[in-house]
Amino acid sequence: MTRLIFLGPPGAGKGTQAQTLSEFCKIPHISTGEILRQSMKEQTPLGIKAQSYVDSGELVPDQLVQDLVQERLNQPDAKSGWILDGFPRKVTQAVYLGKLLDKISQGGERVVNLDVPDEVVITRLLGRGRKDDSEEVIRRRLEVYRAETAPLIDYYGDRHKLLTVNGNQSQEEVTTALKQVISV
Ligand code: AP5
Repeated sequence: MTRLIFLGPPGAGKGTQAQTLSEFCKIPHISTGEILRQSMKEQTPLGIKAQSYVDSGELVPDQLVQDLVQERLNQPDAKSGWILDGFPRKVTQAVYLGKLLDKISQGGERVVNLDVPDEVVITRLLGRGRKDDSEEVIRRRLEVYRAETAPLIDYYGDRHKLLTVNGNQSQEEVTTALKQVISV
């Protein structure tokens, strides 16, 4: 059973690699960022609440993302495994997820940290040009990553769940490294 959590700064390649591996493993790719962007596009109540946070590079409140993750992991296709991309993003969310996975008997998750230096992710994101990819918002997303998300590297390392992959190589090389990691 493959249950993977992708960690890494904005632009590390989490979404790119999660999509490739989800097709390879035939398990859903669950991206909280994508779900929020889709909700914003459709102007659902979730999207309306999340909009100002996403546009400015801040994290949306825990309760909003926790509820959407709980609902998504309870869907039938998640019973055969999943890749979580963008959640958890802070220690409070990781604690919540641990309890949720125990409750729904979906433990055994492994956490992959995609390691990429700041200057590389900034270049990648400026080249992509999503709405939250302006230089100012990218810098804020990186600050939030360092303050809130990077502590999860130690959190999962201490729990012996963490694997680190060099994300600063070609997409194909990163995919090969990830396939090796998940085959162990
Ligand atoms: P989210 O969508 O998760 O954004 P992010 O973490 O900033 O990640 P990105 O999508 O920018 O980067 P990525 O690592 O997926 O890289 P990608 O594969 O796209 O979140 C957006 C917002 O939603 C947050 O700011 C927050 O407001 C909110 N949110 C989401 N989850 C939340 C949570 N849990 N709690 C609270 N708020 C939350 O690649 C980037 C670019 O690089 C692409 O152009 C790609 O083609 C290129 N690329 C990828 N790999 C390589 C490579 N190896 N070599 C060269 N280029 C590459």
